[in-house]
Amino acid sequence: MIVLGIETSCDDTSVAVVKDGVDVLSSVISSQVKLHAPHGGTVPELGARKHVENIIPVYKEAIEIAGILPEDIDRIAVTNTPGLRPSLNVGISFAEGLAKQLNKPLVYINHVYAHGYSLMLHSDNYTPPCYPIILLIVSGGHTQLGIANSPLNFKIIGETIDDAAGECFDKVARMLNLPYPGGPVIDKISNEGDETLIVFPRPLMKEDHYNFSFSGLKTAVKYYIRDKNLVPTIEETDNYETEISRFHTIDIAASFQEAVVDVLVEKTVRLAKEREIPRIGVAGGVSANSRLRHKMIQSGDNNEIGVFFPAMKYCMDNAAMVGGLGNFIES
Ligand code: KG4
Ligand code: ZN
Repeated sequence: MIVLGIETSCDDTSVAVVKDGVDVLSSVISSQVKLHAPHGGTVPELGARKHVENIIPVYKEAIEIAGILPEDIDRIAVTNTPGLRPSLNVGISFAEGLAKQLNKPLVYINHVYAHGYSLMLHSDNYTPPCYPIILLIVSGGHTQLGIANSPLNFKIIGETIDDAAGECFDKVARMLNLPYPGGPVIDKISNEGDETLIVFPRPLMKEDHYNFSFSGLKTAVKYYIRDKNLVPTIEETDNYETEISRFHTIDIAASFQEAVVDVLVEKTVRLAKEREIPRIGVAGGVSANSRLRHKMIQSGDNNEIGVFFPAMKYCMDNAAMVGGLGNFIES
């Protein structure tokens, strides 16, 4: 079955063609990063307007790269929740119009489940895990840990009680005056930083439940910067005269990243051991993080647990995961 996936939940316009749920024939993503960067975050109304401009060219390109005709599509799958409503609506309207025009069935996809499913897409040198898996979803909007028994059966055991992990990366990056989106930048500069220099809190890490909290960690970074009088935070720019040295920025970034990664790894591996499920999958934008990948794999190795990450191209928002999951929904 050929499924056309459509994803416009945030700031990427993406259309993909996926065969039999796993073979990605095309996955086209038009990023809006440049549009939103000057604002330090996604501006919903601007984003929606850009999706309107992009959706038809991106669709045409996806069809062309896949080498199919519109009539070859068996089903259309579109993300309908969660996300920015004006942005979601662009994808939904386009999908509904196309489904009518082509007379094809349309299914609606939950974005978080689609991230989880990204672990099952085929790509070079990657063998997907079999179910059940301990699944950690870490993105800009979500941090959820649970057990995936099938593509559509995800039992959540713990989740963040405040900020999502990616949101925390983005906010700390802003405090350090790093460009948007902050996660990839913190990841990159942390490579050269000393992650042991500052011991930031690991919130809820040792508690015997599986919820997360990142708001206190974000505040700890903010107070560290303020107390050392190091760098202007975005909202306090006028009160500061000194600039943080490039050297110390990378140490703060690395120490912060280490705290997030330690909490995510500790809780995920503990759940895998407790439930005796020797497979961990991590998905969502933060699953691209190199330190998270390294430490999760290392801890998995120490505990005889297989650790799976989607191919880099399927970590961030993309329509391939939507088209893939669309294969499994009754239409
Ligand atoms: O899944 P995604 O593309 O969108 C949402 O569903 O939210 O995730 C975006 C989030 C952003 O917060 C971004 O900063 C974060 O993922 N992110 C990263 C990395 N790449 C993206 N965070 C840490 N390290 C990265 N390499
Ligand atoms: Zn996402």
